[in-house]
Amino acid sequence: MRNGDVIGKIQRQEWLKPTEEGLQRLAHKAFRLRGGQQVKNFLHGTWIGHPLHAILTDIPIGAWTAAIVFDVLDSSSPRRQYSLAADSAVALGLAGACGAAATGLTDWQDIDPPARRIGLVHGLLNVASVVLFGASLFARRTGSRAGGRGLAAIGYAVSVAAARLGGNLVYEQKIGVDHSISEKLPDEFTPVLPEADLHEGKPVCAEHNGTPILLVRRDSQIYALADTCSHLGGPLSEGMLEGYVIQCPWHGSRFSIRDGNVVDGPAVHPQPCLQARIQNGQIEVRKSECRIPTGLPAPAGINPQPRTGTEG
Ligand code: FES
Repeated sequence: MRNGDVIGKIQRQEWLKPTEEGLQRLAHKAFRLRGGQQVKNFLHGTWIGHPLHAILTDIPIGAWTAAIVFDVLDSSSPRRQYSLAADSAVALGLAGACGAAATGLTDWQDIDPPARRIGLVHGLLNVASVVLFGASLFARRTGSRAGGRGLAAIGYAVSVAAARLGGNLVYEQKIGVDHSISEKLPDEFTPVLPEADLHEGKPVCAEHNGTPILLVRRDSQIYALADTCSHLGGPLSEGMLEGYVIQCPWHGSRFSIRDGNVVDGPAVHPQPCLQARIQNGQIEVRKSECRIPTGLPAPAGINPQPRTGTEG
């Protein structure tokens, strides 16, 4: 069956909607508990600037592929090392799958339809493969090696189907990719808004060739970031400003307006940052690395964007 047919079929399964909503509610509630945001940031991968889920999924896929190879070798050779290697690979894959499940669920709770349903089925298939590999390990330990091999083979087929949906989530639905980098930000200082139109503490969305740019005046300095949220493309200028942090109105990612760094996920990629200055009554912006070493004075009229730890 073609990939598009499978995805279309999954998306038509309306009976899954209550499960999706209920699970997301439950996950949101859990992460609202004390310390939940820190756990959430860790599981998203905010601290490495990359989705942690994408890294951890390689462990079960790699380990279980190795397990299947060792099972084949084991069935055609009497050497005990192959069976030991196969069992160890199954166990390693199970450990990695637990991490992948925790990070995957954390990412999934902040995605919307139609990707949400594909994500749910992807997760359920992965749970099924974990159960099958768990049963395979149990069978191997209790003397049923042939049964263990059979369960692993079915589990592997299920995990491949899950991986196919995972690929759709990333390459088609663009989950986990940086939604802000496609923005065409000006290389040279370019006027984007009359200075008089930007008021203290009131975020404004300016534009450059159709690219939205977030402008904020804070304590007489002007800060500029790409307005399209790196998580899933929400409009940051419609979000809440608290101190030097802007919160995305869609899923609550929080970014420092000083340097675009992620303060809280689900976003993991920092917001592209711009330098801003006032020239002839106009706010002008240009692309910037936004990385001025701590302690160096910022040029007059240009936002200083020092790197900060906690914001707010
Ligand atoms: S779009 Fe999801 S947090 Fe901004």
